[in-house]
Amino acid sequence: MTFLFTWINRPVKQHSDQQSVHDLVIHNARLYPMSGNIECSECDQIAIDNGLISSISKSQSEGVLAARTSIDAQQRVLLPSFIDCHTHIVYAGDRSAEHNQRLRGVDYAEIHASGGGIYATVNAVRKADEAELIQQSMQRIQALQSEGVTTLEIKSGYGLDTDNELKMLGAIRTLKQNLPMNIVSTFLGAHTIPKNTTQNEYLDLIISEMLPLIAKHDLADAVDMYVENIAFDNAAMTQLFKAAQDLKLNTRVHAEQLSHMRAAETAASLGALSADHLEYLDKGGARVMGEHGCVAVLLPNAFYFLQETRKPPVASLRKHKVSIAVASDTNPGTSPIPSLLTALHFSVHLFGLDCQEALLGISLNAAKALGLQQKLGSLEVGKQADLALWDIPGPEFLCYQLGGLGPDQVWHKGVMCR
Ligand code: NIG
Ligand code: FE
Repeated sequence: MTFLFTWINRPVKQHSDQQSVHDLVIHNARLYPMSGNIECSECDQIAIDNGLISSISKSQSEGVLAARTSIDAQQRVLLPSFIDCHTHIVYAGDRSAEHNQRLRGVDYAEIHASGGGIYATVNAVRKADEAELIQQSMQRIQALQSEGVTTLEIKSGYGLDTDNELKMLGAIRTLKQNLPMNIVSTFLGAHTIPKNTTQNEYLDLIISEMLPLIAKHDLADAVDMYVENIAFDNAAMTQLFKAAQDLKLNTRVHAEQLSHMRAAETAASLGALSADHLEYLDKGGARVMGEHGCVAVLLPNAFYFLQETRKPPVASLRKHKVSIAVASDTNPGTSPIPSLLTALHFSVHLFGLDCQEALLGISLNAAKALGLQQKLGSLEVGKQADLALWDIPGPEFLCYQLGGLGPDQVWHKGVMCR
């Protein structure tokens, strides 16, 4: 009799149909898909199979789905894990001496002109081998991981010659192969013009020697360039981007950071995925970016650290429906701030984004800046299961509190990594 009772009450769904047993199910969550807004979903349960989101449902009506690993989120907030779409996080040394100069009133462009700035980091990077570069960068990367970042874009750009640019890209590839993150590698050989050479000589070296090697060894996903009166001009960008696109590499640009060069609109019309910084962008530039679907990547940590006063034209970006992303720009010169949540907070406080714009800026729109919006950036069936569980009242809380924030748990491709 006892046997019969047990048999009748057996959990049919879980044992009779192995197909319905998911790899991972997280239920009883407050789920914020971030697929265009920051509203809470009516669904509370998400299933993951083979590293992808396989279903999103209501446990009240469907019951808790069977899974090899089942997690009761206890009403905590489930978000897509975050994307830092613009960093120079791999570097050697520091520039704290330069910071002291700047505190005494010397400006960034002056320091660069006198051979410091980017050149100081180039000297340090040239002295380090790949292992040292990785070792010096890991603490910064871990700081981002502790904030729930699982997608990280990293640029080269402190080598400025073939061997050292390839060394930086090699370090980025090693990180890509070993960290539980999506690492996107960007070749920024055109970060500035090396000393004792001209723009055209260096551009020739980049296009005829560096780019073919990088493409051959699949060392970069994208090509970036610093267009500024202390670096390259628009004609150089046009040449470089055409060469990059011939090799099927995405293009992005550092634009209108210190002056109005019209680089963002030139890049947008050349098909660049994003234009980044944009403090000096004008209305016309915003319109062209909107027309071409070029993402505006705002970097408020650099704005803050350089004590800039001119802000990116957020109202024009909104008017022309330009997607806005927010990134940390972690680097030794303008943003020694390896914190995407600080950038999130600053984007609201310093640039006037609303919480929805800011949060989409480190999720879906950051994915768009990397050309990865079909795969990453929101909780949707078919997307990669990169998730973070937070013990916070709601996502806006991340814009409100500055410091001391981190998720309870993080998954990358459905595997818990924190
Ligand atoms: O994004 N402006 C150019 N590149 C970096 C700074 C690089 C540096 O100063 O080392 C930036 O701000
Ligand atoms: Fe940058």
